[in-house]
Amino acid sequence: MTDKAQTKQRIKELRAEIERHNQLYYINAAPEITDREYDQLLQTLDELEKRFPEFGSATSPTQRVGGAPLDRFDSVAHAVPMMSLSNTYSKEELVEFDRRIRKLVPEEVFNYILEPKIDGVAISLRYENGELVRAVTRGDGTTGDDVTSNVRTIQSIPLRLADMMPPAVLEVRGEIYMNTTGFAKLNERRQETGKEPFANPRNACAGSLKLLDPSEVAQRPLDAIFYATGQLDGISFETHEQMLQTLKSYGLRITPNYWLNQKIEELLDQLDTLESMRHEFPFEMDGGVIKVNERRLYEELGYTAKSPRWAVAYKYEPEQAETTLHAISIQVGRTGVLTPVAELEPVQLAGSTVKRATLHNEDEIRRKDIRIGDKVIIEKAGEIIPAIVKVITEKRTGAEIDFSMPTACPVCGSEVEKREGEVALRCINMQCPAQVKSWLTHFASRGAMDINGLGESLVEQLVDSGLVKNPAELYSLKKVEVLGLERMGEKSADNLIKGIEESKHRPFDKILFGLGIRHVGKGAASTLANEFKNMDALMAADLQKLETIRDIGPIAGKSVVEYFQAVETRTVINQIRAAGVNLEQPDNGETDELDGLTFVLTGSMETMTRDEAGDKIKARGGKVSGSVSKKTSYLVAGESAGSKLTKAENLGVTILNEEQLVALLGSDEELEDQKAGQLGFGF
Ligand code: IVH
Repeated sequence: MTDKAQTKQRIKELRAEIERHNQLYYINAAPEITDREYDQLLQTLDELEKRFPEFGSATSPTQRVGGAPLDRFDSVAHAVPMMSLSNTYSKEELVEFDRRIRKLVPEEVFNYILEPKIDGVAISLRYENGELVRAVTRGDGTTGDDVTSNVRTIQSIPLRLADMMPPAVLEVRGEIYMNTTGFAKLNERRQETGKEPFANPRNACAGSLKLLDPSEVAQRPLDAIFYATGQLDGISFETHEQMLQTLKSYGLRITPNYWLNQKIEELLDQLDTLESMRHEFPFEMDGGVIKVNERRLYEELGYTAKSPRWAVAYKYEPEQAETTLHAISIQVGRTGVLTPVAELEPVQLAGSTVKRATLHNEDEIRRKDIRIGDKVIIEKAGEIIPAIVKVITEKRTGAEIDFSMPTACPVCGSEVEKREGEVALRCINMQCPAQVKSWLTHFASRGAMDINGLGESLVEQLVDSGLVKNPAELYSLKKVEVLGLERMGEKSADNLIKGIEESKHRPFDKILFGLGIRHVGKGAASTLANEFKNMDALMAADLQKLETIRDIGPIAGKSVVEYFQAVETRTVINQIRAAGVNLEQPDNGETDELDGLTFVLTGSMETMTRDEAGDKIKARGGKVSGSVSKKTSYLVAGESAGSKLTKAENLGVTILNEEQLVALLGSDEELEDQKAGQLGFGF
């Protein structure tokens, strides 16, 4: 083979390898490699493609975010219309649905299949010869918007089907959704940057898909699940279940649970089971969809003008509660944004006691005409954050009081301002104790500098006593000063000083994240740290340079440049540097003593969580997998280990208990020492 042919082959192999890992990660939830190893594969491929542009391909995993922002979306006609479902809230109507079907096909024996109804945005994907060629929204059912470049950024959607012989045409339909935790984080970030938060995950998802700049969409936590087909050429399915399983084998995500049943009565019970699982799904589920499983019956059962006769949606009542709004308090966040918070009479809602609800901003309070003393209906937006849906105006007594936002910061008394284009009010004082406190708490948090012994209440004391005004000042704290704080013992003071001292050796990405630069989350911090290697190089980078980096969009890029231009920032960084804090990214922050070994963790452990154990294994070069196979090197069995343990025993895999695992891992200090040795500090 010539060199060129070899490169071409290597590129092909890398793509297949990356796609395989995508499937293991997103579909099977059983990754075989670490995120870092995955990034390395992607980077190698990216470099090869840049050197040999003639081997480029639109379906390469490097090409998720490609192309310039659009002016508008094109309208596209659906090859097969996208129908909706008839809805019901009553089980009697489901029994009626079953009767109707049996009347239409009296001789047939068939099953029903029950799936969750996902509350997201309907989408149709078209794969031609295995390649994703188009993604179109539902629109009016006949034509929709071409949102292909946005949908391509969703990591769990394969750009190419995982099959050597894919059908000529496969149109799959499903739901794009924003996962509930991602939604909560996104809204928090929006609030911090003075933007209007989204009302619920579905709106956030729809809003994201309508963005014209795919690089912005790529930052949104979107995901998808598929449950139907459109045009098919070169493939057919006997049953819905078979269709789902085929999609899964292609690398398309399907519902995590479904139930098959011949009798409608049993399905009614299963609908209750499904409802009880409502909060376990990463998406918002607003009901169950019941479909006839046998696709051969579809034509015979037919369609009404809008929906198929072989399917129906049973909707659950939204979970709401009535309570009293006692007061509205004001929270001041890390960027100084003032957020009104509803203080409620405690009430049970969706499995927890709710005492507070977010009110987002003054506009929202006006829009909903919320007054102190009102009886209100609350609901959980995105299943997590309670929000006030509406006021029960009929229950007003006349004693309710109008609310208006304060004209000064409730924490430091400084002026508040509304920036152009923003809805939020902000405290303009960068030294506002509220801002400093959340900044320090973030700086000391586990994902950032992980300062042992520095929690929220100590941060509170340090700031209130005037000892610390920014993260840099932590490093000049003296033990005597700490001892002067209320209820501070000798041991705690020592611990804090030790914790601060130890944090000096964290890799560069930790402090970068800890600084709390707007739009720079954990992932972006790690990308920047790995790219620039140290603080000086990053501070010298201009927007143009930053924008060339994968996963760093123009918004984050601009924010980084602005951050490092500010005089205050430069002063803090100089102080941090002078204190001897590490500002370099180690080349290889990981050791390789467990290289080549695959671990499966099962059951619960006493001294750490499974995730923590996994991180420790990975930090030493080992792999962690979700399922036991002949390739498993060790099964770590914690308390009440189940089927994985049995399987491991049957396969003759070596089994470790927690103590043995701890011994194998060695101490974290040992790992730190090794790393320090590699980097040349400490000795
Ligand atoms: S089947 C021809 N299955 O609900 C039937 N739809 O109210 C196509 N939806 O437009 C739909 N989860 O956006 C189906 N498991 C599921 C679903 C589901 C959510 C949405 C879909 C549809 C709407 C109908």
